[in-house]
Amino acid sequence: MDLTTAITSRHSTRAFTDEPVGRETITEIVALARRAPSWVDSQPWRVYAAIGAARERIARRHAESSTSGARGRSDIATMHRDQWASAQQRNMAGMSESLLALLGPDLERVTGEARASLFGAPALLYLTIPRAVPQWSLYDLGAFAQTLMLAARDRGLDTIPAYELVRYPAEAREEMGIPDDEILVVGVALGHRADALINSLVTDRAPVEQVLTIRD
Ligand SMILES: Cc1cc2nc3c(=O)[nH]c(=O)nc-3n(C[C@H](O)[C@H](O)[C@H](O)COP(=O)(O)O)c2cc1C
Repeated sequence: MDLTTAITSRHSTRAFTDEPVGRETITEIVALARRAPSWVDSQPWRVYAAIGAARERIARRHAESSTSGARGRSDIATMHRDQWASAQQRNMAGMSESLLALLGPDLERVTGEARASLFGAPALLYLTIPRAVPQWSLYDLGAFAQTLMLAARDRGLDTIPAYELVRYPAEAREEMGIPDDEILVVGVALGHRADALINSLVTDRAPVEQVLTIRD
């Protein structure tokens, strides 16, 4: 797959098949993600991959917390939509409208089930950085995560980067042995895309003129 196809065919996948993803494949895509740039080559990232029984234990705990309506407490604070800058509020509203147009009255049920089941993904990757690093390391981890997702796409796999995976950090911390001196930043669910309506969502992007300023 060429790089442009990998970039344009990557969409967040919210329903996966049961087909497992093997250790070798996970190792390969993480090895490629390590090629991402980082501040003075500090390489602040770590990945904890839950498959098989570990994934089952996490998924069971998550289903209970999610359906009980327990309040999430991710290591990185969330911010209410009203507090975001106006352009970002508009973009987020656009995404919500596209989802509503696609799922109609089934929206709450389908998205609720997707969240509670951790999208049914056979592999759950938890991305961390040490607590003792500057904010620059979040930039580095973002580059790492996107490289990982493109490497997955190149192998015919699909992903979703998801707050949902780190909403209740104790699930992954306890089951995967993530130490307290690491911040659990985000999860990436990995697997094969299921043939489900929710996966046909293709989000818009603001026009490039709104993003780019060139002067000469
Ligand atoms: C840090 C981060 C966290 C996200 N968390 C969730 C999530 O919890 N649930 C979800 O359905 N999508 C989540 N997403 C996916 C975004 O909604 C998605 O990337 C965005 O709508 C753009 O769509 P695309 O990834 O299909 O291009 C997250 C994305 C990022 C980058």
